[in-house]
Amino acid sequence: MVRKVVLLKGDGIGPEITSSVQQIFSEAAVPIEWVEGKGGLGAFEETGNPLPEETINLIKEHKIALKGPLTTPVGTGFRSANVTLRQILDLYSNVRPVLSLPGINSPYKDVNLVTFRENTQGLYIGQERIVEPDSHIELIGVITRKASERIVRAAFEYAHKYDMKKVTLGHKANILKESTGLFLRVGKEVSADYPGIEFQDMIIDNMAMQLVMRPQQFEVIVTTNLFGDIMSDLASGLVGGLGVTPGANIGDEYAVFEAVHGSAPDIAGQNKANPTALLFSSLMMLRHLGMDDKYTLIRAALVKALANNEVRTADLGGNGSTKGFTDAICKEIRNA
Ligand code: NAI
Repeated sequence: MVRKVVLLKGDGIGPEITSSVQQIFSEAAVPIEWVEGKGGLGAFEETGNPLPEETINLIKEHKIALKGPLTTPVGTGFRSANVTLRQILDLYSNVRPVLSLPGINSPYKDVNLVTFRENTQGLYIGQERIVEPDSHIELIGVITRKASERIVRAAFEYAHKYDMKKVTLGHKANILKESTGLFLRVGKEVSADYPGIEFQDMIIDNMAMQLVMRPQQFEVIVTTNLFGDIMSDLASGLVGGLGVTPGANIGDEYAVFEAVHGSAPDIAGQNKANPTALLFSSLMMLRHLGMDDKYTLIRAALVKALANNEVRTADLGGNGSTKGFTDAICKEIRNA
């Protein structure tokens, strides 16, 4: 059965890296039909809205989307379409697998962890109150039992599904006793439903150090929004950075898969962009859709191509181009 998936090509390098994924999926005969929607700066310039209603309706209709990076103007202009999408579709889990890959220059060769970041609350929601302009600002963070419970449960469910043995909850309950204290308490309660999976909690600053010193001890990490924002980028740095790290925003009804990096306007249109992160995100999508055979086929081809310095893109120290790297993956798929 052919599955319809909404594709937002995005801005900057977005069209190049999404085309790369389309070419590879077509080579692997993945039974997906792309339904294109508009989003980001391109959509804003065309329609006056970075996230047109029709795009949201398309995702609501088809439930799953793959999204290229969207440009958000700094300081002025419109609000991030990425953040709006997460809120409108209630995509409460931000999921990022962080995995060492052969041939990638990185501080570690044996990391295999996944971060679950709560995507809707915490200090990240941007509720700032100006008490006195340029002098005194107050910042509000929100933690609720409901949102804490569903993100911790999502982390445990993932551990259960992929046979991971430990969930570590990051918090700051020694200082933020009520807010992240509630997150921790709820986490402990949820963990009781998963007796086969070890539960551990860790103060977030210690987690930052432990991630750098001994990342191999972690399997699934779950934490609040702002802590997760920082920890997930830190974790991606352990295996080679944002160029190889995929991500997904998942809710109960909808899921949007995306690369973690931005639209890289400095290299857009130059055949230099690395499609790896978006391709790994697309692979997460295939597993989410239960297309495990296609996942295995494409992943093996990608890993082989990544190990070849002649085809890897320049950001990974290679001599290749977007097009050349994509062709190399397609060749591996043909030869599989
Ligand atoms: P960026 O990730 O776009 O670029 C940072 C550096 O990494 C640049 O030197 C760029 O050339 C390089 N880079 C990024 N992705 C690459 C790839 N796939 N292949 C090769 N090199 C790559 O971050 P920046 O410059 O802070 O943001 C640019 C725009 O992207 C902004 O408008 C920002 O708001 C947006 N953005 C969008 C995101 C999303 O849609 N999920 C996430 C982060 C930023």
